[in-house]
Amino acid sequence: MHSQHFLTFFFFLLLSITTLTSSTPSSQNDDTFDFARPIDRKLLGINKKEKLSHFKFYWHDILSGKNPSSVMVVPPTLNSSTAFGLVNMIDNPLTLGPELSSKLVGKAQGFYASASQVELGFLMAMNLAFIEGKYNGSTITILGKNPAMNNVREMPVVGGSGLFRFARGYAQAHTHWIDLKSGDAVVEYNVYVFHY
Ligand SMILES: *[C@@H]1O[C@H](CO)[C@@H](O)[C@H](O)[C@H]1NC(C)=O
Ligand SMILES: *[C@@H]1O[C@H](CO)[C@@H](O)[C@H](O)[C@H]1NC(C)=O
Repeated sequence: MHSQHFLTFFFFLLLSITTLTSSTPSSQNDDTFDFARPIDRKLLGINKKEKLSHFKFYWHDILSGKNPSSVMVVPPTLNSSTAFGLVNMIDNPLTLGPELSSKLVGKAQGFYASASQVELGFLMAMNLAFIEGKYNGSTITILGKNPAMNNVREMPVVGGSGLFRFARGYAQAHTHWIDLKSGDAVVEYNVYVFHY
């Protein structure tokens, strides 16, 4: 009888501890974290007003030479006039000026893939990985449609990291120079992005 009382007491104690811990605000390391919870914007430092920034740089698609930055990893399907199916992996330099020798501000890492059978149109999936000043280590992610023959192509900014957490916006690409023989190209990018 005595031991049963003890067990009841022990069980009650255990129950109250569990109730107590789950009702206190838990950290992510806490076993009792509830998978999802609302939090204060201040905790992530995003209670400030959003900034709108304009970035301008040149994107170098280098296919030729000993050290190409853009490499075909999947060939196009046979007989396609639009290179449908082609996938190029890129680690393209981003520079302040149109010359490759001008200041390097980052790299565009990802791939582009020919996704249209009727026009020269690419799916662009790339992270703009910056190295310049306070943006060093921060990235902007672009995922969009690039109809390469158009004068200006617009692609969404779907997010970012570091200083670009919660980023959204768009990029406009305009071909500055292209060598039709090698395919090498320099493209001007203007990126408009909301971030904190
Ligand atoms: C590609 O085009 C050539 C010439 O028109 C034709 O002979 C060949 O069968 C085509 N190949 C495919 C896979 O459609
Ligand atoms: C960017 O950050 C990396 C890692 O912290 C550092 O090694 C590098 O020197 C920085 N680059 C510039 C241009 O500041």
